[in-house]
Amino acid sequence: MKSIPKKTKKSAAASGAGAAQRSVLRDVSRHLMNTYKRSDMVFTHGRGCYVFDQSGKKYLDFLGGIAVNALGYSYPDLVRTIAARQKSGGTGKTRVLALENSFHGRTFGALSITHTLKYREPFEPLVPGVEFVRFNDVADLEAKFNGNVCAIVIEPVQGEGGIFPVSDTFWKRARELATQHGAALIADEIQCGLGRTGRAFAYQRLTGLPDIVVVAKPLAGGLPLGAFLAREEFAAAFSPGLHGSTFGGGPLVCATGLTFLDTVERKHLLANVRARGAELRAGLKKLAAKFDFIREVRGEGLMLGVGLDVEGAPYVTEALQQGLLINCTHEHTLRLLPPFILTAQQVKEGLSKLDSVFAKTERPAKTQAVPPTTAPALALAAAR
Ligand SMILES: Cc1ncc(COP(=O)(O)O)c(C=O)c1O
Repeated sequence: MKSIPKKTKKSAAASGAGAAQRSVLRDVSRHLMNTYKRSDMVFTHGRGCYVFDQSGKKYLDFLGGIAVNALGYSYPDLVRTIAARQKSGGTGKTRVLALENSFHGRTFGALSITHTLKYREPFEPLVPGVEFVRFNDVADLEAKFNGNVCAIVIEPVQGEGGIFPVSDTFWKRARELATQHGAALIADEIQCGLGRTGRAFAYQRLTGLPDIVVVAKPLAGGLPLGAFLAREEFAAAFSPGLHGSTFGGGPLVCATGLTFLDTVERKHLLANVRARGAELRAGLKKLAAKFDFIREVRGEGLMLGVGLDVEGAPYVTEALQQGLLINCTHEHTLRLLPPFILTAQQVKEGLSKLDSVFAKTERPAKTQAVPPTTAPALALAAAR
């Protein structure tokens, strides 16, 4: 007589496996396109040269995923490598730090590390894992930096945020923490780089090198060109196909970029930026002493901000009337970003126009606010 319990157990397992198999096959027919002739077999796992189906039946694999599984299934060394990879590249390092008051652009990734709410909100949810560190606040940086951070992105001088230079203490600590935790220190030099502050890169005023630098704005004299520069170790993270661009790196824009770089060097424009920048800054400081609604003058080279106690927009309008183009960022900062070829005479002309603009404009009501810039301004004042 056959053993009844044994038979019952086996058939129950078979019918359970059958139901699971039917469910997988139903999903396959519903969700996969008809690109392959598929068998009804559903394998669950493999070991060595054997694979197993849902009922536990064992098959000797003489096909190996059509020559893919040359080491069979669950080969220990491969399993170990894949599991390690998951830790460093997958589940482990998923946090990115950026700074409060930052601006990095409006494409999806750049927007995710841009702090200003008005840019972010219409596109939320953004890329997850981003956390903002208070500007120049080393304690906040230390509290938020850990082994899960894969990158910290910093504008050495915040541009759209109102011309706020990052402090050397903050940058140096960011460099140390990035090294300690195997994260990339990324300098966004799109606005402050390529000579704007009188140095090739604005980070050169600071202690410690970044791992990655991004540049763009002046690079091809107004044609669209950006560049991503990385130390060997970080550049090696790319493999063919991981990154691409239809129009990126075209010969016309690259040739124009070379002309820009060559001109900056040949015409000693960095020296000119430093000299004209110093004259402009000194002139603005004099205006700050004359007009009490000017709080401070910030920045370096030809990247200067005039922080006001009142709204800046009316001054921009009056400047336009008087034939001078400036803009206002973050409501209370007049921003000056003149060309590198500026002459001493033109510095005088601009300062004289600004003097007249400040004198003639009906003074806007004093606002309490210097909203998003308050923290950086305080930090900056403390750093002086
Ligand atoms: C520091 C910085 N990063 C990134 C960008 C964004 O560049 P784009 O508008 O080309 O995305 C800007 C633009 O002003 C910028 O100032």
